[in-house]
Amino acid sequence: MIAKSFVQNAWYVAGMSAEFATNKLQGMVIAKKPIVIWRTGEGKVVAFDDRCVHKRMPLSCGKILENGTLECSYHGFTYDGNGKCVAIPSQMDVPIPSRAKLKPFPVIEQDGVVWVWTGDPDKMSKARPPRTPEFVSDEWDNYTCPPIHVPANYLLLIENLLDITHFYPLHDGNIGDLANSKIPIEFIEQEVDGNPSIKTVRKVNNYRHPPFLVDWFGYETVDRIHTHQMSNPGLTRVRLRCAPPGQLDTAAERGYILHHSHTPIDETSHIWRWTITVPKGQRGLDPGKTTMERMKEMFPAVVDQDRWALERQQKMFAYAEDGYSEVHLRSDKSILIVRKILEALEKGVIKDPDKSWLAA
Ligand code: FES
Ligand SMILES: [Fe+2]
Repeated sequence: MIAKSFVQNAWYVAGMSAEFATNKLQGMVIAKKPIVIWRTGEGKVVAFDDRCVHKRMPLSCGKILENGTLECSYHGFTYDGNGKCVAIPSQMDVPIPSRAKLKPFPVIEQDGVVWVWTGDPDKMSKARPPRTPEFVSDEWDNYTCPPIHVPANYLLLIENLLDITHFYPLHDGNIGDLANSKIPIEFIEQEVDGNPSIKTVRKVNNYRHPPFLVDWFGYETVDRIHTHQMSNPGLTRVRLRCAPPGQLDTAAERGYILHHSHTPIDETSHIWRWTITVPKGQRGLDPGKTTMERMKEMFPAVVDQDRWALERQQKMFAYAEDGYSEVHLRSDKSILIVRKILEALEKGVIKDPDKSWLAA
């Protein structure tokens, strides 16, 4: 699987909890499944096939009636919160066919995130959406960007996030430099909430921080631990911890957590959301502003650079391979493992998330 498909049997982020107002219908495509999704009057988020069982009209174009049922905008088939058709206005004198039922998608709302399982429910096994407790903790400030449509396969983003040797040259002068690309990498396999996952760890001492990081944390030279983890096919978690030399694990330590959700729409596009999480009130170079305020202002420029690259990479997949083959570096190890994990998930051959992907 080299950025040409996606895993169907996975939990993907449909949105943040705040994006789901009560009785507001939303239509979205996740992993090529048309989905109508909304929060019912009871507060539960439900998701179904977006095609009306009558003539495929998108139900997300319909409306929620006062009694909480969903009315199709075309001929008025009406469905309850379990997806069962409960009214057909033009033939109220005839029993409703029992087949008149929408296919449901499993939904889990946890830690401020709404997740949808787009595959076969029987293939869920141990896989649960990864936890994101910082999103709902009083000790952290959070900000999630509006959803970004990226015309590229989602694997290109996952690989971008795991292999930060692209910090030079793509992010040179803002969050990156060549020295960053030379930091040794440790690879750790770890099961995350029933999902096989891979984590990279980069530890460095006396590292001169690039300009954006000096701004966000206020330290020119740091000891730093930087981890990147694809928690499941839908989420990558990044943690950065830094402090003046010798002061990690003391009150001087600063940092952030970045969660990136990558929800495939189809083979060539996905939705990207990034969430910045910073210890409450943490400040950097400018004592008048919090790290969060500065990151909100500055991080989108970094994201634009990544998006620029992903779009261009994707376009090159339109050409026949014609003898083309990738050359891999030491730092690509995590990417090769991710590809194996996703390939196995796609084929449905993962029985044991603890399997060693490093050796496989
Ligand atoms: S298409 Fe929905 S009621 Fe006819
Ligand atoms: Fe990047």
